[in-house]
Amino acid sequence: MNAIILIVDDEKPTRDGLRLALDERFEVYVASDLREARQVLKSEPVDVLLTDLRLGPDSGMDLLDEALTLAKPPVCIMMTAYGSVDTAVEAMRRGAWHFVTKPLNLEEVELLVSRAARGREIESENRRLTTENYALQKKAEIRNAGLDRIIGKSPAIIKIGEMVTQIAPTRATVLIEGESGTGKELVAHALHDLSGRPADKMVIVNCAALSPQLLESELFGHEKGAFTNAHQRRIGRFEQADGGTLFLDEVGEIDAATQVKLLRALSERTIERVGSNEPIKVDVRVVAATNRNLREMAAMGRFREDLFFRLNVVTVQMPPLRDRAEDIILLANSFLREFAKENGRSLKPLSDGALNLLRLYSWPGNVRELRTAIEHGVVMSNEETIEERHLPSFLGLRAPTGTTEPGNPPSDAEKDLAPGGEFNLHDIEMATIRSALRYTDGNRTKAADLLGISRRTLQRKLKEISSPKGAN
Ligand SMILES: Nc1ncnc2c1ncn2[C@@H]1O[C@H](COP(=O)(O)OP(=O)(O)OP(=O)(O)O)[C@@H](O)[C@H]1O
Ligand SMILES: [Mg+2]
Repeated sequence: MNAIILIVDDEKPTRDGLRLALDERFEVYVASDLREARQVLKSEPVDVLLTDLRLGPDSGMDLLDEALTLAKPPVCIMMTAYGSVDTAVEAMRRGAWHFVTKPLNLEEVELLVSRAARGREIESENRRLTTENYALQKKAEIRNAGLDRIIGKSPAIIKIGEMVTQIAPTRATVLIEGESGTGKELVAHALHDLSGRPADKMVIVNCAALSPQLLESELFGHEKGAFTNAHQRRIGRFEQADGGTLFLDEVGEIDAATQVKLLRALSERTIERVGSNEPIKVDVRVVAATNRNLREMAAMGRFREDLFFRLNVVTVQMPPLRDRAEDIILLANSFLREFAKENGRSLKPLSDGALNLLRLYSWPGNVRELRTAIEHGVVMSNEETIEERHLPSFLGLRAPTGTTEPGNPPSDAEKDLAPGGEFNLHDIEMATIRSALRYTDGNRTKAADLLGISRRTLQRKLKEISSPKGAN
């Protein structure tokens, strides 16, 4: 695209001469006074303004001032008739780029205009690049949020970060497996954040929270009258997630009938609303998570094997926290900052004893449990540091299923466990269960989770200890 040049001079010979000199290489407009010049500036994106300082009764200086206030001001070159350098300097001070003296050397003017036009090109190129870079950078910031939130330096977590980065931009269905609280949902978010799909197009369905019939219509939608309570047509989550990511949490809980429909949605990329036979095309990237062993469930006939293979194109296996001890303190400190801020408290360090306790505990509830424990500590401590006693009491009592790393010397906490041999294993178990129940406000499911035992086992143990003191 040729640069647009506006020549403003009240003398016709000068206008004609300049037009002749510049016409070939540029798109040239001419004006003989301020009014005409204004009109061109208003209607054309002028790149270079070449104006006389004296325009009959008007001043080229006024034109300069006006031109420089435009949204995209042109590069301004002033012409001055009598070599009155003072006014020229004043024009430069006001923002003119250059000045030339009359009589004009047309070659010099042409060169100057070319340079101005080129500068203008570079300028807008720079502006474009800067805007683009900014947009890219902003995008990267938003996109990377997901991975940034995954804290950890253990080889296992670093590997997960690499894997997430690699598979995120693909369409591959991802199955995230891991114990409760290991960060499956966090990884699902990271996968979406880095997918290049619209940031706000992540739809989450907790498959365990709904009855089979509700889940089916939640996922695929329904037509009016499809079943008793279907008073209105409803768009399902698959359709909502079109173009984005659908996160199926606790996918192992899906009933057999819905499994069939899900399989079809995954293999054919179409869905049908409940009560309709009309296939609807959807572009949805599915990420599923489970804390069950789906392969085993499939082998036992409790989960469709074909669906398992469809979901399991790529598996991300979240390691339990006890297997990545090097992350514990890193995570603890990060949660410390988070909760200090949230509760408006100053940031207190964990005492050596507290750190030991955290390192030693087996974390059956994984990162979530650690997070809650730190919140507890932040809230409980009125001192300069967070001490062992500010942490939930059961941390000092190892969960019955906790693994002790071989070769680790017993910590103070372990030694404290049975002072003078007063406690036997049974007592310890009871104490652990009680404090887990206290910690979860009596919620048995959560307590069982925390202890790494099934709810049924917890019930049995509670029955065993039902004593006058009670466990609840
Ligand atoms: N690597 C990590 N860095 C920072 N925070 C983490 C990390 N892993 C987990 N968390 C935090 O721990 C909590 C539990 O994580 P998340 O909900 O992702 O676990 P989950 O595996 O989905 O658990 P569940 O199976 O119980 O649903 C969240 O608050 C999450 O932010
Ligand atoms: Mg989860």
